[in-house]
Amino acid sequence: MEVTNISVYAGSAHPELSQAIADYLGIPLGKVHHTQFPDGEIFVQFEENVRRADVFLIQPTCKKPNDYLMELLIMIDAARRASAARITAVLPYFGYARQDRKDKPRVPITAKLVANMLTAAGADRIITMDLHSHQIQGFFDIPMDHLYARPVLAPMLKKTLGPDPVVVAPDSGSAKMAMYYCDLLGAGFAVVAKRRLNATTVASSHLVGDVKDKVCVITDDLTSTAGTLCAAAKILKANGAARVYAAVSHCLLDATGKKRLLETPELEQLFVTDAVPIDDTLGGRIKVVSVAPLLGEAIKRIHVGKSVSSLFYPKN
Ligand code: R5P
Repeated sequence: MEVTNISVYAGSAHPELSQAIADYLGIPLGKVHHTQFPDGEIFVQFEENVRRADVFLIQPTCKKPNDYLMELLIMIDAARRASAARITAVLPYFGYARQDRKDKPRVPITAKLVANMLTAAGADRIITMDLHSHQIQGFFDIPMDHLYARPVLAPMLKKTLGPDPVVVAPDSGSAKMAMYYCDLLGAGFAVVAKRRLNATTVASSHLVGDVKDKVCVITDDLTSTAGTLCAAAKILKANGAARVYAAVSHCLLDATGKKRLLETPELEQLFVTDAVPIDDTLGGRIKVVSVAPLLGEAIKRIHVGKSVSSLFYPKN
């Protein structure tokens, strides 16, 4: 089907980011009505023509992942039935990504289930950012553009960290991401051995790498209870680090995480993106950088058929 115009619609999860993306593209945010019936069912209606349009639906499936995922599926279904030419689901944060493998008996691989659901609903393409593991891309048989927050976070980190910093992976799973940050920042590398005791508690037992008198930045895809970041910050300080910062792509801090952060002076500041809504009750402890231009530029390039990979590197 021939594609005509580009249309960007917000789900309920993050209207501010959706508006910022539309502003970057210089187009009005599309008109869509979402509501919930008294029994909890979600209803969506596009309030304008989407026939033959190149439709982008913005929905990070965070904080209320079940509601926001279901709403996104319903939006995809509505756009498909309204004859959109192409439907791209834009998930700046892909909820359920941590359930990406069967590492215990009788557990699901929910990230794969979510991929199946998005495809079955009618998504033609996915845009996402900093998946918990790259292999999730293989759960889809439709094109996926996987973006990275590091080109957006790195310039701010460079200014803060000064010369000769150390990038720290807070667990073995985040080592690869940390290595990319090392390249961007011209930094040394260290890694912490982490063991998860339960959903809210971790133990960081060993540190590999020299951090004595160094300014360190812990990098990770997400923080939720802040257990991982705070445990790493403590072990770094105990090993003589001069200052400790953290940079994460997705800030999902819950009440436990906020409390923990406030009670951990070892971690000076947290750099995050607005891929998910950020509540600013932590004041100066959190610095937010917007990924709206990154997502907007990716959408623009996909619409006109240009390369997206040039967005993987910082501008300065
Ligand atoms: C786990 O492997 C992830 O990359 C994060 O390190 C983890 O999910 C963070 O969770 P929390 O903030 O609850 O420790």
